[in-house]
Amino acid sequence: MIHQNFEWQDILCREQRPDACRIVIFGASGDLAKRKLFPSLAALDAAGLLAEETQITGCARHWFEEEAFHLHLMPFLPPGIASSFCRRLRYQRLEYDSPGDFLHLRQHLETLKNGTPVIFYLALPASVYPEVLRQLDRAGLLRETPSGGARRVVFEKPFGYDLASSAALDVELHRHLQEHQIYRIDHYLGKETVQNIFLLRFANRIWEPVWNGTHIDSIQITAAEMLGVEERAGYFEQAGLVRDMFQNHLLEMLSLVTMECPSSFAADAIRDEKVKLIRSILPIDFTRAVRAQYEGYLQEPGVAPDSRTETYAALRLQIGNPRWAGVPVYLRAGKRLGVRRTEIDILFRPVAHSIFPGISPEDLQQNILHLRVQPGEGIGLTLQAKKAGPKLCMGSLTLNYDYQQSGGEVLDAYARLLLDCQLGDPTLFLRSDAITAAWQLYQPLLEHWSSAQEPPPFYRCGSSGPDAGNALPRMDGRYWIDSLQSGAHEN
Ligand code: BG6
Repeated sequence: MIHQNFEWQDILCREQRPDACRIVIFGASGDLAKRKLFPSLAALDAAGLLAEETQITGCARHWFEEEAFHLHLMPFLPPGIASSFCRRLRYQRLEYDSPGDFLHLRQHLETLKNGTPVIFYLALPASVYPEVLRQLDRAGLLRETPSGGARRVVFEKPFGYDLASSAALDVELHRHLQEHQIYRIDHYLGKETVQNIFLLRFANRIWEPVWNGTHIDSIQITAAEMLGVEERAGYFEQAGLVRDMFQNHLLEMLSLVTMECPSSFAADAIRDEKVKLIRSILPIDFTRAVRAQYEGYLQEPGVAPDSRTETYAALRLQIGNPRWAGVPVYLRAGKRLGVRRTEIDILFRPVAHSIFPGISPEDLQQNILHLRVQPGEGIGLTLQAKKAGPKLCMGSLTLNYDYQQSGGEVLDAYARLLLDCQLGDPTLFLRSDAITAAWQLYQPLLEHWSSAQEPPPFYRCGSSGPDAGNALPRMDGRYWIDSLQSGAHEN
């Protein structure tokens, strides 16, 4: 029997509106806050997903009258709802090391009804986290009491610089907070297509039997950006592309695609499987790792003239478990490339035997499942099929599903995560053991590169990256299915 409509579909497709809470954003005058956090909260407001009484307090060192703060944010808020959203906004000037300012914040929060949850969002450099946590703790603002409501703290990456600093940060966080209060953001987990990996994999019968090395030839994950380092050299110079994109976003996407089925859709069940997967990735083979720097990077403001920071990387990983033995995973990401495109491609093996005269299995286009993260969020499935004409006239076609065309509302990644945090749902946030496992994987490569004699080679801005990166899968007799040229994908 085929069910067309389920009552529960209506329920699952309705967003849950959180209860009233207070959101406090530290770093409220900064770039992340004005470009992402306030606009996402305004979008939630417009969608009816903020409780009537929810208020947002911006805190920063900058002197702002409340009205000037609203004017500062206005250009970034969705037109039409900006002024009604501003009625929720408060501003408090605050020095991050001033006990007096935190007591003032406490007085401000004491006006809340008992039981109201408070979310503190630290849109701040990681170096400031320990001081802010100390002050919040000292002011009694992190204490959860049965009648006092939840206290959650949201952290942005970087979660450390390496294994040791990430462990030290974790100790610091746990000095003031319990794990259930800590929300570590990886905004890629809030993206529609990334969340869809769960559903696609675990709500369909057809994939599980073929989701392994018997049927899958390789996996490719690309995150190509056209923008350069912009005004973030201060951070990026310390980080580099592997810390910025691979240690978190790319690895999270990979773990969702390759992890085992969790025992339930509960946050910890999913996070248990993800960490298990990350731990089973084999040590990186340095001969299958490429780094490079875009031409002109050394002249960017704030970049050292002899900087060796990589702005591009491509790697081959291998997963040491029975499902994925022998299936290479190619990852690549870079700045100032010719296109902006993030996609996960699952490439299937050729047919076992070709019955078509003169055509070998390798001549036939592989089946490819494309998970388009951005732009054009959606799914594609490339198949070999008959074209109109003679009996054996065949070619490849891609079945496409596009979220925009489906008519559904695509919530921005930050809006999704800010909503989940208000609901107390940590499923799409990172747990510290996964971060540790990620550092364990990447640290040897980062150390290898930092001790190398040679600086990273350059690649042309607007290109598809360095030749060595483009040739990486070729070392295993494969090729990138997306050549990163603008226009249509190659397949
Ligand atoms: C951030 C990185 O986490 O992700 C940036 O720090 C990068 O360097 C950005 O540009 C990419 O995010 P998105 O959502 O634009 O793909």
